[in-house]
Amino acid sequence: MPDINAGIRNNESGMRGFVSRLDDDFVVKVPHWFRNATPKCIKENCSKGILHPNKFASVEDYYGHHIMTFDNIAIMKNATAPGTYTRVGRPFEIPYASGGFRYYTGHYLPTCANLPQESFDRLAKNFKELNQIHSGRYYYEPDTENPNNFLIFNGQFRIVDDLDPIPIEEPNNLSTMVKPLLIKIATEEEAEFMPELVPMRKEILRKSIIAATRNDLPQPQSYSEEAFIDRAIELAGLEKDALEIKNAMNEKSIGKIEEIFR
Ligand SMILES: Nc1ncnc2c1ncn2[C@@H]1O[C@H](COP(=O)(O)OP(=O)(O)O)[C@@H](O)[C@H]1O
Ligand SMILES: [Mg+2]
Repeated sequence: MPDINAGIRNNESGMRGFVSRLDDDFVVKVPHWFRNATPKCIKENCSKGILHPNKFASVEDYYGHHIMTFDNIAIMKNATAPGTYTRVGRPFEIPYASGGFRYYTGHYLPTCANLPQESFDRLAKNFKELNQIHSGRYYYEPDTENPNNFLIFNGQFRIVDDLDPIPIEEPNNLSTMVKPLLIKIATEEEAEFMPELVPMRKEILRKSIIAATRNDLPQPQSYSEEAFIDRAIELAGLEKDALEIKNAMNEKSIGKIEEIFR
């Protein structure tokens, strides 16, 4: 168990709860309506906690698993310590107009665009693993509406928050990568085309497509997923259509993909 006395610091919010670092190894997530939870109260409740087996253990970079829960409080592995990290999009707590957009363009986008291909490959590999896990006909997908459910730590993407069950086989594909990384800035906030952001977005899209191809992620399964990919192509300033990219992906031709991005 984490040392609760290490104190709670760096509260980070989502729609549902706030997450506090307990120590380098663990964080605690407390629902907003339970805000009066103090470290003392958490400590007292730990003995009442229930341990949960991790169904998603094979998804290496998924940190949203509730190791233990008690009274709606959940203990999870810490995805971001020790060290600095980047939240994908703009942080939920920093409004768009007062620093959020600056974080998105000046911090998130360059950090993400400069990650090596291996980081994207690894994210795609996580999705491939996740696509294998199901309970009956329910498969799982990360919550891509809120890009903050993806973090960049130590050159790696890490996924947090609950995974959503969905009655579709192998639901994770290229759109699961580009939606948080390129389309969303925050929940209910979508990216706009800006010429000055094209070079960074192009890099993110190129590396995502190569990663999805190398890891044999399935093709998108719905019009809305296809629409996300079309939108990502626009944001990246490519004058190509999705079909050309889809064909290159089907042929598994990294050469052709590189050609499209030249
Ligand atoms: N396991 C974790 N390790 C480190 N930081 C986390 C972890 N889980 C969540 N966070 C941080 O807290 C934020 C909110 O957590 P999240 O689980 O997404 O809450 P919500 O359900 O309210 O969206 C995340 O965007 C992330 O910055
Ligand atoms: Mg979240």
